[in-house]
Amino acid sequence: MKLICDLPSPKSLPDKYVLPPEKRPCDNELRDDLSVALPVIDLRGAMGDGRRQVIGEIMEAGKEFGFFQVVNHGVEEDVIQGFREAAAEFFRMPEEAKLKYYSNEPNNPFRVFSGSVTSHTDTNDIRYWRDCLKLRCYPVDKLMHHWPLEPEIFRERLAKYAVEVQDLARRLLRLIAEGLGLDDQFFEGDLTGGETMMNVNYYPSCPNPSLTLGIRPHSDRYILTILSQGDVSGLQVKHKGRWIGVQPIDNAFVVNFGLQLEMVTNGVLTSVEHRVVTNSAKARMSVATLIRPNMECRIGPAQVMVDGDTNPPKYRDFTGSELIEAYETTAGNREALLEMFRIHHTKLC
Ligand code: OGA
Ligand code: NI
Repeated sequence: MKLICDLPSPKSLPDKYVLPPEKRPCDNELRDDLSVALPVIDLRGAMGDGRRQVIGEIMEAGKEFGFFQVVNHGVEEDVIQGFREAAAEFFRMPEEAKLKYYSNEPNNPFRVFSGSVTSHTDTNDIRYWRDCLKLRCYPVDKLMHHWPLEPEIFRERLAKYAVEVQDLARRLLRLIAEGLGLDDQFFEGDLTGGETMMNVNYYPSCPNPSLTLGIRPHSDRYILTILSQGDVSGLQVKHKGRWIGVQPIDNAFVVNFGLQLEMVTNGVLTSVEHRVVTNSAKARMSVATLIRPNMECRIGPAQVMVDGDTNPPKYRDFTGSELIEAYETTAGNREALLEMFRIHHTKLC
């Protein structure tokens, strides 16, 4: 039990992080110029005359890439940088102070773990080059007592960040709902009523980026993910069969759809696979906020998104807890998870 950030700077990649050849990134996928410009959407106009335009841009980017970045999103720079500082300070604390929180128990509301994944698709206890602080961040009042008292600024900074990012998510989901032809409050309530999760991902600089990954290829599980990736690149998105890099933009958020949203929209918006490559020059820290359903919530293709004859529902109904269980079983593999809920329509001739 050790975090990567506490290893004495290794000269070469420790064996247990070396991925089997077929899982490693290709050399040409580690270049910085891989950063194809992902659409950047300015949200400033979204509350006024520009609303239809912004909705159009979100739908277009969502359908083409499943990912986009937003700027002028209303979350103050101080709030973003303030929490990023607190989180970075957390990772700088002495080893013992962090290991107090070490746990591999997924239901723990505040825990630290280090890049190991054991699952049905990744056998042999494959390890990735990532330390992670995984916590529940919203509703703040209910969850705050689980957060650490050290560093001293942590609770206050996280509280501010969580409230603002939750509000951004609500605004984005209204725009998305309108873009889909749904009632603008469609996602409010149970579909987004679960406790919001956060991954604070810390990727120490890596002695050999060509032999490992920070996060394996996966799709996110819930409705929407809002990511602050800071100023170091590393996030890559699958686009037309190739990995493309997401260019870092100061104080922007990267937004992507989760598997839950893909199924609710009957496949109109897709939950695109992504991964993280490591970097030998700099450490990288990202903060992912994941908006979730209630555990008891019934989830399935929205009525408006299906039509009995021409566009039947592709997925059966399921609950929030079933979704979480399925995600654990399939280790975030998009196809395997969707298959668990897919309805196979037989053609009558
Ligand atoms: C995640 C994730 C990407 C990143 O936490 O699910 O995909 O850039 N993070 O760290
Ligand atoms: Ni992800």
